[in-house]
Amino acid sequence: MPANVIQTTNLNFTYPDKTRALKKINLNIQKGEKVAFIGSNGAGKSTLFLNFNGILRPTSGEIIVDGITLDDNKQVLMEIRQKLGLVFQNPDHQLFAPTVLEDVAFGPTNLGLNAAEIEKRVDSSLQKVGMLEFKHKPPHHLSGGQKKRVAIAGILAMKPDIMVLDEPTSGLDPYGVFQILKILHDLHKEGMTILLTSHDVDIIPLFADRIYVMHHGEVAGEGTPEKIFSSPELVKKAHLRQPQVADLLYSLKNTGIDIKIKLTVAEARDELLRILGKHI
Ligand SMILES: Nc1ncnc2c1ncn2[C@@H]1O[C@H](COP(=O)(O)OP(=O)(O)O)[C@@H](O)[C@H]1O
Ligand SMILES: [Mg+2]
Repeated sequence: MPANVIQTTNLNFTYPDKTRALKKINLNIQKGEKVAFIGSNGAGKSTLFLNFNGILRPTSGEIIVDGITLDDNKQVLMEIRQKLGLVFQNPDHQLFAPTVLEDVAFGPTNLGLNAAEIEKRVDSSLQKVGMLEFKHKPPHHLSGGQKKRVAIAGILAMKPDIMVLDEPTSGLDPYGVFQILKILHDLHKEGMTILLTSHDVDIIPLFADRIYVMHHGEVAGEGTPEKIFSSPELVKKAHLRQPQVADLLYSLKNTGIDIKIKLTVAEARDELLRILGKHI
């Protein structure tokens, strides 16, 4: 039986100004999954992620992380934050130390680890995100993509089992996006459960096993990328669009060609070769 690592039951969150940002969210994330939360601006994605590690506390409902029910107890919060690392959308909200090294060392230092262990964790985390050579730089001298990678390293240094990233690819150039996806892919191969938010529907199929579609603070749909993107009404309701690859295949299908809809360039290429009778 796969283990649930995040479970929410009737989770509601209302901001002090009475904005109902999350309404009756019920979800189950299993160990080792790669899950994307997609939805337009204001759908509630960031609010949900801030609830996952207790930065925001639910107005009502329950969150269980790896068997532990989230509450206001300091010990519980610490335990959950060690299991579940949150990478903020804006790295400037996360990076504040004078050097990359000190920033990444902050978490492990707070855990009370010894100097040798801290150094080991800092180096291995920076290595994993390809930022070791920037160890002595001030974070504010780095590019947007480099800052995001250092923010990921800071979380990795806490050795979480679950990593939750808010819009990790937004604002990056194509190579920056590729680097982040590669890091997440490698971490997943090492056994990490990974959740991210995005509104970039072209990127999602390259990452996600499963998608939650959010709209107006609710879960409007859930399923594999194939399932979600074969539901045009859902995609439209959530103010999203199909991946461009799928758009092309849908338009071919509409001309009467018997073609299966695919979501990535590689899969679409194989499908086109198949219908052209060329086997690879
Ligand atoms: N600090 C806040 N105070 C009041 N309302 C907020 C605050 N932050 C976000 N909201 C509102 O909560 C809703 C969900 O926002 P958010 O979680 O940021 O959505 P998303 O990340 O999907 O863009 C929006 O209506 C937004 O305007
Ligand atoms: Mg957001």
